[in-house]
Amino acid sequence: MSDRTAAALDRQWYAVATVDAVAASAAAPLAIELLDRSYVLWRSADGQVVAARDECHHRQARLSLGTLADGCLQCPYHGWTFGAEGRCVLVPSSGDDAAIAPAAHLSPLPVAERYGLVWLCPTPHPDGATAIPHLGVDDDPSFTRLNTAMQVWNCSATRMIDNMLDVAHFPYTHAGTFGREQEQEVPHYRLTQLDDTFHGYEYSVVVNNEGEAKSMSGEGADVIGLDMSTGFALPYSVRSTMSFANGIDQVLFMTAAPMSTAASDGPCRSLFTFVLWRNDDVSESGADIVDFELEVSREDQAMLENLTGELPLGHGDLVDVASDKASLEWRRRYRALLESGAG
Ligand code: FES
Ligand SMILES: [Fe+2]
Repeated sequence: MSDRTAAALDRQWYAVATVDAVAASAAAPLAIELLDRSYVLWRSADGQVVAARDECHHRQARLSLGTLADGCLQCPYHGWTFGAEGRCVLVPSSGDDAAIAPAAHLSPLPVAERYGLVWLCPTPHPDGATAIPHLGVDDDPSFTRLNTAMQVWNCSATRMIDNMLDVAHFPYTHAGTFGREQEQEVPHYRLTQLDDTFHGYEYSVVVNNEGEAKSMSGEGADVIGLDMSTGFALPYSVRSTMSFANGIDQVLFMTAAPMSTAASDGPCRSLFTFVLWRNDDVSESGADIVDFELEVSREDQAMLENLTGELPLGHGDLVDVASDKASLEWRRRYRALLESGAG
């Protein structure tokens, strides 16, 4: 990866954990890998999530192997203790009253909590970073949000985005859930700015609505049509909206983050999670709806984990057809982002 590409990727926000995973009651800090580096996350006594490199400034022990008490993180090696904003508050070997060297404090990184997810920007000064995607539905009281755990996929985030923007794989990859073998042809669509955040397209699909799929659609025949939109936000987020004829609206937000980057066509790993918003009563059906989306995402994961390395980004590296228009546009903008070296 060139320095410019690395600098550009460092100036993005990534969803790296669920808010639940860094609860104030958590017994241990959380270890995160992002862009080939290790970070530690925990919630300090002031209620804020602290994120820092997973390395104690004393002898470089991994802080994520330490323990939490009263919102303070204790290093497992010599017990140095870190509080709000990563400040070192105790060096046990020096006694309670000894002055603490400024260099002992951790360097906290920008974090934000949005949509039940913890977002991390791996540069200390995120000015000019691409904004965290704005999902206005989160402020709409007629919608309920459903979260699921953070997952690790053995593939690149670039391949994941390409997949999320693609409907041509539905009849094949998703034959086991909602994909319908009769619906192979993708109607021509136009790319448009869907709102102030997402760029993509609107379309109608016919899908299987049998068994578990009925948890999502609410009801209906075994084959139904629905109106959808799919759009991306740089670098690695996609939003899919679904409007069912019975008035149920669902917003599915999917986001990925590169844990490791591929040297060439080698293996790489990425974080993945999704967030769902629904305008129906999900007090009973919520778990089944999330399970169904998890089943769908496992079908994508199984396919993508066969593909090594990053998605080739150069002109003509891949053969594209009309249904790949959204992926082409994402690649064009993503290349420009990487070349800018900034957000
Ligand atoms: S390495 Fe952390 S306290 Fe010594
Ligand atoms: Fe898929």
